[in-house]
Amino acid sequence: MFEILELRGPVAAKAGSNRAASVLEAGGLVLFPDMAFALEADERPLLDPAISNGKSKNVSLDPITGRVGGADVDAEAQAALGRMLTRFADYAETLLGELTPHYAGALQRRRTSFRPGAIENRALSPRKDDRRLHTDAFPSNPVHGRRILRVFANVNPTGEDRIWEVGEEDFQTLAVRYRDRLGSPSRSAWLMERLGLTKGRRSGYDDAMLRLHDAAKLDDGFQKSAPKRRIVFPAGCMWVVYTDSVLHAALAGQHALEQTFLMPPEAMETVALSPLRVLEQVGGRTLL
Ligand code: SIN
Ligand code: FE
Repeated sequence: MFEILELRGPVAAKAGSNRAASVLEAGGLVLFPDMAFALEADERPLLDPAISNGKSKNVSLDPITGRVGGADVDAEAQAALGRMLTRFADYAETLLGELTPHYAGALQRRRTSFRPGAIENRALSPRKDDRRLHTDAFPSNPVHGRRILRVFANVNPTGEDRIWEVGEEDFQTLAVRYRDRLGSPSRSAWLMERLGLTKGRRSGYDDAMLRLHDAAKLDDGFQKSAPKRRIVFPAGCMWVVYTDSVLHAALAGQHALEQTFLMPPEAMETVALSPLRVLEQVGGRTLL
């Protein structure tokens, strides 16, 4: 059963700290219904979807280079975007510091993204369409077995909900379902690295996770029949979830912020629940 741990009030994250990691690792979600990420006055104009450069799905901040990509705006708005995304990244990191103290020191801050457009308006190929149930995998940024833990905030200014569906099936069941499709590692990993198509070498794990993402997303029968549950995220709320193991689909909504963290599976309370260990056990081979 899919578990949602709901935490309310100003000390919500601290109050949930003894249970959060186990709920998240078991494939559940932590929801803060009344934890709003407040925007500053000079950040409000950034909510206009027209700030997008039209090419990228999201506006994002790379924590390593400090660069903001995906927006086509003047220097002043670009600086304001950088401040907003940095503020959110810090906020998300503080939140996880309180919620999952067990992970302290193991979480690696990655991209911060802002999604100004309405989900309903996205016309994308089925493989790119996040309205279809999927687990996350990065095509050009290999993670080598590290977990993808994400913090989201619905910052919609007119009170619009963000609507997701999550799969009721756990990661083990999903891995078994598509076991035969995860295949042997592709031999072109070194070439993709040489050509700059991936940042670093794509591992067998990354390969299997991409295949799992595609297998679920492109399976019309599974999309129709998978046991799933609808979750409403009201404006002014935040949520935390391991998106590499929880099947999710974003159906509707506009204006979300998201912070990605990577974490070595060894830092989990229960390493056996990591997608790396599950895929290795289901496939009967090592993936790193
Ligand atoms: C996704 O991670 O699939 C999209 C989530 C969202 O934008 O709400
Ligand atoms: Fe996703």
